[in-house]
Amino acid sequence: MSTVDSTSPSGSLVIAVDGTSGSGKSSTSRGVAERLGLRYLDTGAMFRAMTWWLLREGIDVRDEAAVAAAAGRPTIESGTDPLAPTITVDGTDVSVAIRADEVNAAVSPVSAVPEVRARLLELQRKAIGEGGIVVEGRDIGSVVWPQAEVKVYLSADPDARAQRRTAEQGGTDVARTQQSLLERDRIDSGRATAPLTMAEGAVHVDSTHLTLAEVIDRIVALATRARRA
Ligand code: DC
Repeated sequence: MSTVDSTSPSGSLVIAVDGTSGSGKSSTSRGVAERLGLRYLDTGAMFRAMTWWLLREGIDVRDEAAVAAAAGRPTIESGTDPLAPTITVDGTDVSVAIRADEVNAAVSPVSAVPEVRARLLELQRKAIGEGGIVVEGRDIGSVVWPQAEVKVYLSADPDARAQRRTAEQGGTDVARTQQSLLERDRIDSGRATAPLTMAEGAVHVDSTHLTLAEVIDRIVALATRARRA
């Protein structure tokens, strides 16, 4: 059972959690939001939802001009309750479908298209609104909300990330998962628009040898300190 920390900062607080694929951003961000009574936004799910829609529409995800031209069409909505986050495209719940292999393989190139980023940036800033939220992604502390009171860059060794992600998905092929994670890191870090980077002022947390609870504790401590400052 989760409890809301009685010393929780709230109101306008924004906690930005960026990092590589599979470094534990989602479980960590949800856990922090629950502990502090904050909302939670998974921006990766928004890029996945856009990718799912493009694939369903039969748009060639490697054709940058076609992706750019279509980026304004789907209506993507995110529910920000950390206990039950939701994501819909034109009213359809896609929370399971966006985790499929085809989406994993296509989401990084789609995310590199500036028109996709511009469209989702607008939705992300609207969702953050007055704050009181933990936001996870790749460019939250650097581009989406550089004024965030707490910025975390979460990483873990590729081996640890692949093992966790494979277990989460109930699979067995750790090597294949690792290859997919590293390929996404390569594209996410190398793109021209808003690449994955450690934002100015971010605290680096390496979760390789930490439990989920330990990572959450560290971020809650950073938030408590930020509120007192
Ligand atoms: O966090 P995730 O694995 O669900 O993210 C899926 C993809 O979305 C990731 O490979 C890169 C992209 N992404 C991004 O470019 N910017 C963000 N703020 C979040 C995700």
